[in-house]
Amino acid sequence: LKLAVLVSGGGTNLQAIIDSIESGKVTNASVGVVISNNKNAYALERARKHGIEAVCISPKEYESRDAFNQAMLDYLEQAGIDLIVLAGYLVVVPEIIIEKFRNRIINIHPSLIPSFCGTGYYGLKVHEAALRRGVKVSGATVHFVDEGTDTGPIIMQKAVCVKSGDTPEVLQRRIMEEAEWVLLPAAIDAIANGRVHIHDGIVTVD
Ligand code: GRF
Repeated sequence: LKLAVLVSGGGTNLQAIIDSIESGKVTNASVGVVISNNKNAYALERARKHGIEAVCISPKEYESRDAFNQAMLDYLEQAGIDLIVLAGYLVVVPEIIIEKFRNRIINIHPSLIPSFCGTGYYGLKVHEAALRRGVKVSGATVHFVDEGTDTGPIIMQKAVCVKSGDTPEVLQRRIMEEAEWVLLPAAIDAIANGRVHIHDGIVTVD
């Protein structure tokens, strides 16, 4: 399974994917390309260190959003990508890509969807909302990407305890370490090995 990992920031989820493939925990998958909208994203550096093609495709470089969207689609198709993985990617995925890659785009969201998700819930905002609500359990979700924001079929989830005194940063880190970096590789391995099935919007994993 040839992956395109789309990133915007530090790339710790990308690193978890790279490490899990290199260690053999994830099989039948390879990272074909890492694409970021941010040329300074450290995630691109992580890719280069592992000899993985790392490109910046930014909306700022195009005269219109449509032109950017088409350039992204063209790139993904010519690269022969099988699965698109959004790992901290902050750009909206356009309809033309969602159509062409129906149920072949996954995203990691740092909460137990449907809690604390949707537009506006990115980065620390997710964890600030969870702490403000006083939830005792949060976690992360890997889901297929559809036209909405965090609305696609849920593939896997992992719960993480909220501890008294947690700050948004501390909770974010615990969710990344205990949930995101575990779930994303696990979901990729399940898809790469044909263990993920979807019927009427409900996913089952063998
Ligand atoms: C993390 O906060 C994660 O919860 C979310 O976006 C951020 C990505 O972090 N998906 P990184 O770039 O993978 O380190």
